[in-house]
Amino acid sequence: MELTALLCSATQRLAEAGCSSPAPDAAALLGHAVGCDPAEVHRRALLGHAVDADGPEVAALEDGVARRAAREPLQHVLGYAWFAGARLTVGPGVFVPRPETELLVERAGEILASRGEGRVQVELVDLCTGSGAVVLGVAAAVERRRQAGERLPELVLRAVEIDHRAAEYAERNIESTGMTVDLRVSDARVEFADREGQVDLVVSNPPYVPDGAVPDDPEVADHDPERALYGGSPDGLAVPLQLARHAATLLRPGGWLLMEHDDTQGESLPRLLGELGYVDVVDHRDLAGRPRFVEGRWPGR
Ligand SMILES: C[S@@+](CC[C@H](N)C(=O)[O-])C[C@H]1O[C@@H](n2cnc3c(N)ncnc32)[C@H](O)[C@@H]1O
Repeated sequence: MELTALLCSATQRLAEAGCSSPAPDAAALLGHAVGCDPAEVHRRALLGHAVDADGPEVAALEDGVARRAAREPLQHVLGYAWFAGARLTVGPGVFVPRPETELLVERAGEILASRGEGRVQVELVDLCTGSGAVVLGVAAAVERRRQAGERLPELVLRAVEIDHRAAEYAERNIESTGMTVDLRVSDARVEFADREGQVDLVVSNPPYVPDGAVPDDPEVADHDPERALYGGSPDGLAVPLQLARHAATLLRPGGWLLMEHDDTQGESLPRLLGELGYVDVVDHRDLAGRPRFVEGRWPGR
């Protein structure tokens, strides 16, 4: 069977199932089945490549399309997600990292570059690390800056995740990147008492969905763990605020907190950070113009 025909029929089935990006998903699934990336799938399709209709590639594609058409997240079917240039292992039991979180990661890289002037080491803590996406993404962003010739201090990386299953993914991803991360399986609202006043940057993509605001997409509602989504109050801010309060105890005077939030929290969370005592509080929008994450500096007491 020609790859073009396989791509067309997979795209059509995914569109009929209500998937939001049927064509890219079909190319990713076909690539997974034949062992190449989506760009190579399109190149081979254009050149008229074909596979045996009874062969393993077609069977693997069929399996992938059926799972995706049942609205399993593409990343669960593939077994990985691309995030900030890194391929992370994900699957049932862990939150699939989202592209919008890459903006927070880039901003963290900028801050560490400026904060690091004249320092030998800077310390970063990722609260609610899930698959390890943010801590590993920031480390990779800093490494890219280094390779581009910027002088950056050594990073000391720490992360915490409450869920054992999610933490296993983080452990695996940390191991596969070869980075050293002090990963703790614990409650981020109280962990790292041993680092009080010593952290330069706290990053967090916490659970922040308002309780009762059940996500529309089955990929999210049925597959992201509940504990990864809901912020523990009608406005979704109970857990984020507990984390922001705890972050203040960890930060050195002048240290930064970067925290992702729901697009309904672009005014409330910055205001509440101000009330907790953070200064230079700025909210950032994502590429679609929606309020996405907040930064603030802890002045010290
Ligand atoms: C929205 S997900 C984000 C995961 C990851 N940071 C990312 O961006 O892909 C939130 C994560 O926080 C974890 N979590 C929820 N409450 C927590 C707590 N009190 N302490 C530590 N982790 C927590 C969840 O298990 C989930 O992995």
